Amino acid sequence: MSKIISVANQKGGVGKTTTSINLATSLSAVDKKILLVDADPQGNASTGMGISYDNRDPGLYDLIVNREHDEKAIKKTIVPGLDIITANTNLAASEIELVGVEKREFVISNILSETKGYDFVLIDCPPALGLLTINSLVASHSVIVPLQSEFFALEGISSLVNSIKLIKENFNPGLAIEGILLTMVDKRNSLSSLVENDVRDHFGETVYKTTIPRNVKVSEAPSHGKPAILYDVNSAGSMAYIGLAREIIKKQGAVNE
Ligand SMILES: Nc1ncnc2c1ncn2[C@@H]1O[C@H](COP(=O)(O)OP(=O)(O)OP(=O)(O)O)[C@@H](O)[C@H]1O
Ligand SMILES: [Mg+2]
Repeated sequence: MSKIISVANQKGGVGKTTTSINLATSLSAVDKKILLVDADPQGNASTGMGISYDNRDPGLYDLIVNREHDEKAIKKTIVPGLDIITANTNLAASEIELVGVEKREFVISNILSETKGYDFVLIDCPPALGLLTINSLVASHSVIVPLQSEFFALEGISSLVNSIKLIKENFNPGLAIEGILLTMVDKRNSLSSLVENDVRDHFGETVYKTTIPRNVKVSEAPSHGKPAILYDVNSAGSMAYIGLAREIIKKQGAVNE
């Protein structure tokens, strides 16, 4: 069975998509089969994997509208072992269309329950707590929360934690926080370390030991349609995401033993 993980934070620009792409790539580099699901109408994960708009149909929108899985919506990427369901142009409309659907919180869950053969499914969520994010969290075993290392990092996380609690109570009792990931860490900036200490004091073991540094190669890679790991594997950012994949697999191993 696949482990389904949402990468979510309703705050914008904290590194959800960067984490989804580079964690997915790092996991496939250690021979895991990965399905990346782009659940954000902005489509940054699809673009970042080098998939142009012309090649996105059918995508997540079609699966949501038809309310069933279709193998044709799964596309190969340039990374061996990493497939994607893209965010095609209409995905934004599905937020509205889902409102009238019976059991509207379970649509993505039902779709993903029909995908087979993946070790991990990673869902890149939009920066909102709307129906696409709710659907993603209902479909998931756990959630990775990227937090940007800045002064307001902890602000807003309480509403996410509260949403996770509500989803557990109402739809998905097994939903767990997989981990909190500090992103765009700048070791030269003392504020960055203050924030890191604060977050670790507050959330303890839930926070990954691995942190992601602010790194120019990571921010350049999407404009080349490549994960940072392919763009420059030796960059500090790529190495950090490879370290994160190791940490996640190790944690997984400890749970399964
Ligand atoms: N480690 C990093 N170093 C440098 N730049 C980064 C890093 N991580 C992310 N960025 C840049 O920060 C911006 C926001 O990152 P990203 O798109 O991953 O965030 P997001 O949470 O998915 O945003 P949104 O909420 O809009 O979906 C992007 O321009 C990205 O290239
Ligand atoms: Mg994003």
